[in-house]
Amino acid sequence: MMKQLPLLPFLALLPLLLLFSLLTGNSSACTNEGTDVILPCSPSTRENLQNKLFDWKKVGQGGDTQHEVFMYDSAVHYDRHSGQSEQFKGRVSHFQNELKHGNASIFIRKTKVIDSGSYTCVFPHLKPDEEFCIELVVGASPEPSVTILDQTKGWSLLQCLVRGSFPEPLLQWQDSSGNMVPAAEPQVSKTGDRYSVILNTTVTKTDRYQCVATQEEIKHQTKPAHIYVLLNGAASEPSVTILHQTEDGMLLQCLVRGAFPKPLLQWTDSSGNTLNTEEPQVSERGGSYDVILNITVTKTDRYQCVASQEEINHQSKPAHIYVPFNEKIEKLEKTEQRPNTPPADSATYPMISEQLPES
Ligand SMILES: *[C@@H]1O[C@H](CO)[C@@H](O)[C@H](O)[C@H]1NC(C)=O
Ligand SMILES: *[C@@H]1O[C@H](CO)[C@@H](O)[C@H](O)[C@H]1NC(C)=O
Ligand SMILES: *[C@@H]1O[C@H](CO)[C@@H](O)[C@H](O)[C@H]1NC(C)=O
Repeated sequence: MMKQLPLLPFLALLPLLLLFSLLTGNSSACTNEGTDVILPCSPSTRENLQNKLFDWKKVGQGGDTQHEVFMYDSAVHYDRHSGQSEQFKGRVSHFQNELKHGNASIFIRKTKVIDSGSYTCVFPHLKPDEEFCIELVVGASPEPSVTILDQTKGWSLLQCLVRGSFPEPLLQWQDSSGNMVPAAEPQVSKTGDRYSVILNTTVTKTDRYQCVATQEEIKHQTKPAHIYVLLNGAASEPSVTILHQTEDGMLLQCLVRGAFPKPLLQWTDSSGNTLNTEEPQVSERGGSYDVILNITVTKTDRYQCVASQEEINHQSKPAHIYVPFNEKIEKLEKTEQRPNTPPADSATYPMISEQLPES
């Protein structure tokens, strides 16, 4: 929890502050592995402890084995003779100058996940209610990793994996809006004191998904791991049509449906010049976009429209349309010998074809 909050260094002191504020009765504390922690203990008598005995023990998470953490006996302590559990060797000390103020707190360096458990501080010369009890949780909070296990056009199977966490983390899949995505039962396994958890989910929509691991007991949530899922969302070739003639020329339309992320449409002429158009008309349904872009053209040319989606680095195949104007039309009409004579004013209408003749 400390590592994940680098911008708030004062929070690194939180576990210690928590300890200081809970000096009587049962209390609890949490810290991150690798950090140092003070376990507080001072009997209400506040008597000088320099020539007394106090003993710190620990009962592990399972409640089974008891460990000797630290014993002070009139200046003799476990650092100087055997008896201390292997796990704590060389990492625990008392505060020599605090003893005369009745302070039997200890300091544990470089905490490990296995240090988690219930600690008691016992004074054999005092009444049992002077015993102190403190619950220590040393957390390990690796970030989850996410992968796509399998994918078809319509769905994608995602996996979120976290290894070596303590306490057991709860994994959750969320969509880009932070809504929870239903997932399968998590698969939890334990190696030593640490948990590994796998959470699969099948999604059917294009989106940016994320997986977060939460450890309630230590009020910790990891940074989310992100994954981008693209389902059917790459814009296909747009469809282009001639809508009708206007006073200014021919009105063409370029249309793409059901694309995600939102595509940008662009009209170009046969020399590759980008043409000015009006604003596109964009509509959204079911998380994907339909976009229409009209253009008015005035010259005989082969025009093309493409859809591009910058976010996914995708550009559709261009759709072409050939628009011939006046002179050509006259020639064509002469050779075609239409059975029905068109009305007089139709002479200005161009012949249109959606495909460019093979060149
Ligand atoms: C005991 O000593 C430690 C180390 O100096 C200190 O952090 C803690 O506040 C002291 N406890 C009390 C009750 O004075
Ligand atoms: C996740 O999906 C893979 C592939 O189908 C499967 O082998 C694995 O057992 C699944 N795991 C869980 C926890 O659902
Ligand atoms: C394109 O032109 C048609 C016909 O004039 C019109 O109905 C439509 O609203 C226009 N669309 C856009 C996006 O300008």
